[in-house]
Amino acid sequence: MNTKICVIGSSNIDQFSYVANIPADGETVFGDSYETGFGGKGANQAIMAGLLGAETTMITCLGSDIFAESTIENFKNNGVNVDHIQRVNGSSGVAPIWVDSNGQNRIIVIPGANNLIDADKAISSIEKIADLSVLVGQCEIPMEVNQKVFQFAKNKNITTIFNPAPAQKLDEEFLEYVNWLIPNEIEFEVISGMKVNDENLINFKKEIPSNLLVTLGENGAVLVEDESVLYFDAPKVNVVDTTGAGDAFIGAFAFGLSSSESLNKSIELAVEKASLSVTKKGTQSSYLN
Ligand code: RIB
Repeated sequence: MNTKICVIGSSNIDQFSYVANIPADGETVFGDSYETGFGGKGANQAIMAGLLGAETTMITCLGSDIFAESTIENFKNNGVNVDHIQRVNGSSGVAPIWVDSNGQNRIIVIPGANNLIDADKAISSIEKIADLSVLVGQCEIPMEVNQKVFQFAKNKNITTIFNPAPAQKLDEEFLEYVNWLIPNEIEFEVISGMKVNDENLINFKKEIPSNLLVTLGENGAVLVEDESVLYFDAPKVNVVDTTGAGDAFIGAFAFGLSSSESLNKSIELAVEKASLSVTKKGTQSSYLN
């Protein structure tokens, strides 16, 4: 393997409101602070892989607004190749995010241009990246696009990682194209229809063709094998903002796999980077040392 990673997925401008208590229905509250930053699950995963030193290419679709140029600059500044970014007329993706005093978030994604990404252009981009090792995707672009692109990548023997976020049921056929399925607990429940426990994890793993790794927030992650589960604990940290921690995990895991780290080392690196990210405010800004 080499560290050539391609992420296909969303780019958003994150708009954070930090507030002690999330308002109830019909309630108005004062917040503590407001920040904007670069986000989008796909972009976050690419930035983490890029920061770790992977040769990372981002395939995403941006609009014709002021957010698009600054998003491209941000990719460049963090070592992510922008040669295959698509553009359309209209708004880029945005995500208003509320974060409470426990660091827990509520996110609304307004996809804008992310919904207009073109599968054929994406495939021709992937064809142009020589010796691509790993393709990473998520659910913030249309699943029809993921379906075509992942099928193409799998046929080319590229290792594929899919993070089913935001949670949605996946087609059985799609999973044929996924080497690594990495949901969090909520996403696991939506996809499998079962709660996270050892027995359910093992039973679900038997039903799918993909490898299964489930992220568990402050409890780290669990690797599910045919007859057993292997837990990877997270260090205890001071939680400030959990936004983007799952994306840090995916980007770091992709980097680990592509750099031929052992599987266990790749998962340990992913848990470490995700844990570190929750100690700081913001999404991608929390990945920087
Ligand atoms: O996973 C966090 C991300 O979800 C944010 O950056 C936001 O843009 C949404 O995509």
